[in-house]
Amino acid sequence: MQVSVIVLAAGQGTRMNSDLPKVLHKVAAAPLLHHALATAQSLEPSRIVVVTGHEAAAVSASATAWSEAVETVLQDPQLGTAHAVAQVASLLANAAGEAIVLYADTPLIREETLRAMLDARARHAIVVLGFHARDPGRYGRLITDGNDLLAIREFKDATPEEQTITLCNSGVICAETKVLLSLVAEVTNANAADEYYLTDIVELARRRGLSAGVVLCDDAETLGVNTRAQLAEAEAAFQIRARAAALENGVTLTAPETVFLALDTWIGRDAIIGANVIFGPGVTIESGAEIKGFCHLEGCHISRGATVGPFARLRPGAELAEDVHVGNFVEIKNAILEEGVKIGHLTYIGDAEIGEHTNIGAGTVTCNFDGVMKHRTRIGKRAFIGSATMLVAPVTIGDGALTASGSVITEDVPAEAVGIARARQVTKPGLATRMFDKLKSIKAAKAKGQ
Ligand code: UD1
Ligand code: CA
Repeated sequence: MQVSVIVLAAGQGTRMNSDLPKVLHKVAAAPLLHHALATAQSLEPSRIVVVTGHEAAAVSASATAWSEAVETVLQDPQLGTAHAVAQVASLLANAAGEAIVLYADTPLIREETLRAMLDARARHAIVVLGFHARDPGRYGRLITDGNDLLAIREFKDATPEEQTITLCNSGVICAETKVLLSLVAEVTNANAADEYYLTDIVELARRRGLSAGVVLCDDAETLGVNTRAQLAEAEAAFQIRARAAALENGVTLTAPETVFLALDTWIGRDAIIGANVIFGPGVTIESGAEIKGFCHLEGCHISRGATVGPFARLRPGAELAEDVHVGNFVEIKNAILEEGVKIGHLTYIGDAEIGEHTNIGAGTVTCNFDGVMKHRTRIGKRAFIGSATMLVAPVTIGDGALTASGSVITEDVPAEAVGIARARQVTKPGLATRMFDKLKSIKAAKAKGQ
């Protein structure tokens, strides 16, 4: 079946009280818009078109960053949801098959729900996704008669009696593309908000003798984000769902309620995630890896058998091969750690390659930034970097080489060599006792007030 998905993302989102367009606010480390795009993509549609308006350049850039295949169209000015859909008319004029309208401010809709809507199209020309709201607030109300949807009434236009209806409109609508486009062309703005409401297409369709129906879903899916409070609610709802999915997939979460997953987090079976682990975007963890408590991970890949943390920070470009061990208070950025590398404690590794089975001592720092440019550190296989080595990049340490503790390494150390770059030690017998005796007599003299 050919499907086009239209994602509405032009609205300002006044109630967010923000300079950032609403659809770029994040849930699970991803803009609301990307949640809608991910849901759209799950249907393997032939087209995805995002309607932009408020801060269109930023919203379009975010859409195309998600995928080059996403098309965008400008709605200017923004005169309502039907007017927004009408903007895709020329793009989708010849698109066969079904159209689904998603709102970019509604991030929790599931693929199964959309598939149920496509199935329901066998029974109705227009299918609307509805839900029973515990708190119907300002959602549009669905006016039904048995299995038939008669109308969607916006809260502002509803009579007091209609306002008591708790069956609400999620915003998601499905119809044949050409029917949808011909209906939105007929919508007018004769209502309380002077807006072109997409919801009016239900009554317009019925006047043409077409039927409309409702597919129901859980209200956890249809939460529309209009305020910061709803953004926080959406985050909480996403996390509950994502944690449950991870557990279901065979991941151990020691304290699930303290783990925050991102939209694109991927964790393999039998991985173990400790308490208070935070995932930013772009993290993949292979089966059997272990992340101990209080780690922050972003843009990194952790292979089978690796252990990380507690209290480690992996930043974008951190690539950990199998059986790597990264311990506490270690930060890694843009670095490849080959199999079996050990970095136990208190270390910064940035812009580096480290060969297999190399050991990095506590307090090692790759000095990668000279204030203007970044430089790389290359360390070979089975090398041993002594504690508190400063590796002033660009610098290369060969296979099997060693650096002495406390060295400031500014020159390459060839394979199997030892690099020592520190002052030689001087030892003065008895000097400590003489110094302390002298200091004690000074203190005693001061106490006597002399
Ligand atoms: C809309 C529905 C309401 C439903 C609710 C569910 C209409 C008229 N009302 O109300 O029935 O219960 O969603 O959350 O559709 N947008 C545009 N261009 C515009 C206006 C809006 O692209 O000119 C986009 C917004 O960016 C947003 C979406 O459409 O992603 C919904 O707009 P919003 O103003 O939030 O609609 P609601 O008042 O919440
Ligand atoms: Ca809304």
